[in-house]
Amino acid sequence: MSEDVHICHCNGITKGEIAKAIKEKGLTTADEVSDETSAGEVCGGCVSDIEEILDEVNG
Ligand code: FES
Repeated sequence: MSEDVHICHCNGITKGEIAKAIKEKGLTTADEVSDETSAGEVCGGCVSDIEEILDEVNG
């Protein structure tokens, strides 16, 4: 998955922005990612993708 791919279409948040927030703030849940970036706050359709990025970054 490339860094500039849009993960959250509702709010226009990219994978890179989500990964950066996870790394910088030490986020561990999709809820925390939503609070930080607003990704996942509208339709919720991107939450499984957010969880995948969490797994990828946090291992
Ligand atoms: S695509 Fe992320 S909240 Fe709708």
